[in-house]
Amino acid sequence: MKIAILGKGNVGARLGALFSSANGIDHVVTYSTRTNVAEIAKQGEMLVLAVPYSSVASLVPDLQDYVDGKIIIDATNPLNSSDWSPLEDVGYGAKSGAEAIQIQLPQAKIVKAFNTIFADNLTEDRKTDVTVFVAGDDAEARRVVHELATSSGFDSVVETGPLMTSRYLEAMAHLNIQLAVGMGHGTNTGFAYVERTGGGDEEQK
Ligand SMILES: NC(=O)c1ccc[n+]([C@@H]2O[C@H](COP(=O)([O-])OP(=O)(O)OC[C@H]3O[C@@H](n4cnc5c(N)ncnc54)[C@H](OP(=O)(O)O)[C@@H]3O)[C@@H](O)[C@H]2O)c1
Repeated sequence: MKIAILGKGNVGARLGALFSSANGIDHVVTYSTRTNVAEIAKQGEMLVLAVPYSSVASLVPDLQDYVDGKIIIDATNPLNSSDWSPLEDVGYGAKSGAEAIQIQLPQAKIVKAFNTIFADNLTEDRKTDVTVFVAGDDAEARRVVHELATSSGFDSVVETGPLMTSRYLEAMAHLNIQLAVGMGHGTNTGFAYVERTGGGDEEQK
């Protein structure tokens, strides 16, 4: 698959490296600069948003002609750039940043993923114990991103349901930053979802 990554910073470059080395699948990864977003988006069969959330609105005009029916993985988090605190209002009331992007690009299939994982964990040696959470309204698009994450070596991938659940994923990212920066745990940290077989409700009966 041709994967176009918009933004080649900490997240974009590392995700691109992992996607390029996906198990048994040949992905061609290209990266945009600030000046060729439309051209790179046109070439991509799947897109990844790895720019600051505050830049996304300015990319929309470049994207709108080239994203019809395409999956756009949204790895962004709506933050205030001054101190990484949560952006209180993404411009669409209580909606998440991902839902706001879906409203601006209704012809695309927005799938929220990777936003809860620090770039420090998007590496060959650290990716296996953090969970990739995947949210999106299109179940097939969620499945494709789920498979991309699995083939890229993430052992734990969990679908959270419709795009509305991005609200929870963006809140998780804010908690991630608070733990890392506010509480001093650093960025070599992350969330892992534990799912045991058996037990739970059954055991309590
Ligand atoms: N860092 C993390 O651990 C982490 C984890 C999860 C999610 N995220 C989210 O992922 C996104 C990227 O974070 P990052 O840490 O990778 O940021 P970063 O290192 O600052 O990289 C941002 C990239 O976006 C590009 N960019 C900025 N504005 C642009 C525009 N208008 N048009 C095209 N490209 C533009 C930058 O290009 P230039 O080099 O030209 O500035 C750079 O390549 C953010 O939304 C962040 O909240 C980050």
